[in-house]
Amino acid sequence: MATEASEGAAPRHVAIIMDGNGRWATRRGRPRLFGHQAGAKRVREIVEACPDLGVKYLTIFAFSTENWKRTQAEVAGLMLLFRRYITKEAQRLLAKGVRVRFIGDRVKLDAKLVALMDELEALTAGNEKVHLTIALNYGGRDEVTRATQRMAVEVAEGRLKPEDVDAETLGRFLDTCMLPDPDLVIRTSGEARISNFLLWQSAYAEYEFIDTLWPDFSAECFAEITRGFASRDRRFGAVKA
Ligand code: FPP
Repeated sequence: MATEASEGAAPRHVAIIMDGNGRWATRRGRPRLFGHQAGAKRVREIVEACPDLGVKYLTIFAFSTENWKRTQAEVAGLMLLFRRYITKEAQRLLAKGVRVRFIGDRVKLDAKLVALMDELEALTAGNEKVHLTIALNYGGRDEVTRATQRMAVEVAEGRLKPEDVDAETLGRFLDTCMLPDPDLVIRTSGEARISNFLLWQSAYAEYEFIDTLWPDFSAECFAEITRGFASRDRRFGAVKA
């Protein structure tokens, strides 16, 4: 489902790489998990700012396929944080009209966490004010690889002809098949890289790299960036008439 937002409008779909939790904590002489906890608190504020800013879809990068390389203690702490976030926020997300979905490979995730993810998706399935997608054990290359494997099975079993495979076909096999492409990708903490996030989907996204560390990223910063987006000249490869 790849559509283009109209010019001068708010970004319909914003994707965020929430970076800088560790540095935020270290600067305060605290353990890295303290930064992740502060980061988790920010998520609520940013999700709830979406309707006023005209943002219908918000996708956040919570844990990448590469984040398993962190210490066992940090990984375990993050997994616990995700469980607590889902348990604590579920009713509020429901009441605020937020539909939550998860993308990424669930196979490596703890069964209890996966059960909570499934429950939250089911609980909020009737909402449509804001579509929040949480990328958990997500990597863009991993997603395209899994999609290609599923597509190859369809071809092998005769349900799909190789000559019928185009970009739209592949899009249907991606975890994000229910989402429009992101209009704007924001990365906090001063790093200017995309770290395997929504590689296929961001082909024509605008990027905003800001120095603010994620736990300091406020609804005001978010509003300022979305206002700036509205003045960007998006041409999608074409020449302006
Ligand atoms: C990157 O900062 C952040 C992460 C790997 C985790 C993102 C998680 C959260 C914001 C908290 C919870 C999210 C939800 C959905 C409840 P970093 O640790 O790489 O920071 P650093 O670059 O300063 O070390």
